[in-house]
Amino acid sequence: MDNLPIFLTVRNQQVLVDGGGSSAVRRVERALSAGACVLSLDPDPGDELCRLVARAPEGLTFENRLPERADVAASLVVYGASEDDARDARLYDWSREHKVLCNIADVTEKCDFITPSIVDRSPVVVAISTGGAAPVIARTLRARIETMLQPAYGRLAAFVGGFRDRIAAAIPHGRERRHFWERMIDGPAGDLYLAGDVQGAANRIESDLSRTEEEKPMGEVYLVGAGPGDPDLLTFRALRLMQRADVVLYDRLIGDEIMSLVRRDAERIYVGKKAKDHTMEQGDISELLVKLAKEGNRVLRLKGGDPFIFGRGGEEIELLTRQGVPFKVVPGITAAAGCGAYAGIPLTHRDHAQSCLFVTAHGRDGVLDLDWEVLIRPAQTVAVYMGLQNLPALVEGFGRHGVSMNTDIAVIEKGTRTDQRVLTGTLGNIVAQVEAAGVKSPAMIIVGSVVRLRSQLAIGAAALSEEPHKLSLASGTA
Ligand SMILES: C[S@@+](CC[C@H](N)C(=O)[O-])C[C@H]1O[C@@H](n2cnc3c(N)ncnc32)[C@H](O)[C@@H]1O
Repeated sequence: MDNLPIFLTVRNQQVLVDGGGSSAVRRVERALSAGACVLSLDPDPGDELCRLVARAPEGLTFENRLPERADVAASLVVYGASEDDARDARLYDWSREHKVLCNIADVTEKCDFITPSIVDRSPVVVAISTGGAAPVIARTLRARIETMLQPAYGRLAAFVGGFRDRIAAAIPHGRERRHFWERMIDGPAGDLYLAGDVQGAANRIESDLSRTEEEKPMGEVYLVGAGPGDPDLLTFRALRLMQRADVVLYDRLIGDEIMSLVRRDAERIYVGKKAKDHTMEQGDISELLVKLAKEGNRVLRLKGGDPFIFGRGGEEIELLTRQGVPFKVVPGITAAAGCGAYAGIPLTHRDHAQSCLFVTAHGRDGVLDLDWEVLIRPAQTVAVYMGLQNLPALVEGFGRHGVSMNTDIAVIEKGTRTDQRVLTGTLGNIVAQVEAAGVKSPAMIIVGSVVRLRSQLAIGAAALSEEPHKLSLASGTA
């Protein structure tokens, strides 16, 4: 980060804006909206500035002249927006002399600070900066955030702000107080307020505040599917709960990029899980979830893909249910779907496969416990999870049950991630290919003639893709 993000208090302080054009007007307006005493100077102001001055907003003083050294010395912040190099340079030099914060429009080297793009839902204000590198990205992001933050959010913040002293008095401890605030804003009271029921929201807050110590709610568990790797595949809900958690339990399928989106001060507990290398047994993980929730924490159990598809999410919620711990389950994009999409392999296709089977080939000592009669049905795709180590046994099983060794197969390593690799071939040659390429886990195996579509689809789609790695043919053999 090259800049220190701060929100400066300028109320009743002088902010000088030099210039008569529309960029000067924007700066005057923004400083006025933050309560500054704005001194606007220009010998020849444009129409827009004249109209603003004619409205005589509170806090604005306009003078028909150039700035002087004393104007700068008396200001907290100085904006140069005259588009006159000599005038800007003088303003900047005086600011340096008097240690006044200066910003010359569009001249990065003469800026002590950046003016961010903002979304104003006062008192909620979101400021976005790209450090001056790509203002267009900041503006695009601003447009997105504008659509996400409904206008009532600002009013909600003002409304809950009215309970600040009551809450501080009722809940002395910092962390509990923070939980209360979060439950209030991102829970039933906030929902009621945003739905227009102000009295209902106030009643809810009052009733929550008057609970006794014993009635304080226990924490909860969020069983969240994080998808196969690309953070872009997280759902909004996943992200929201990731931002709310006090503790996160994660395993090896969760990459750093996704972990970086978890709330910064959440405690992180690695619970491992690699075939034959269980850092923590499943039973211990489930018990830890219960224990942490009973201590009042909001516990995030972050899982690769979807929690209910070969994710043992079912076992975890069984114990939570038995112990009366509240929980939420958030589905994620499962590895088969993510790998199929990013490798350019549709899992079903009218001309190739009318069904798709998700199986796991996690067997002991190369012995697979699979229902072969179901697996070998025609016009079907088989997506195999945890099958890399047992790939030879899998191929042998297909062969033994009469499936042609010319059947198409793909192995997708680290699907959806930037280092995704895709190998395509036939049952007859895939084992040798995988060995030669040194494919590592996690890898998804897709069996069926849909694999053949990859070469056709990937080329067309790659040309359209904004992010070429997602449909790259480079590492495949197709
Ligand atoms: C324990 S299972 C978890 C599956 C997960 N719950 C899901 O819905 O994707 C782990 C297996 O999922 C597959 N897998 C998960 N992420 C993957 C990825 N990014 N690329 C390829 N395969 C992946 C691999 O077969 C891996 O061995």
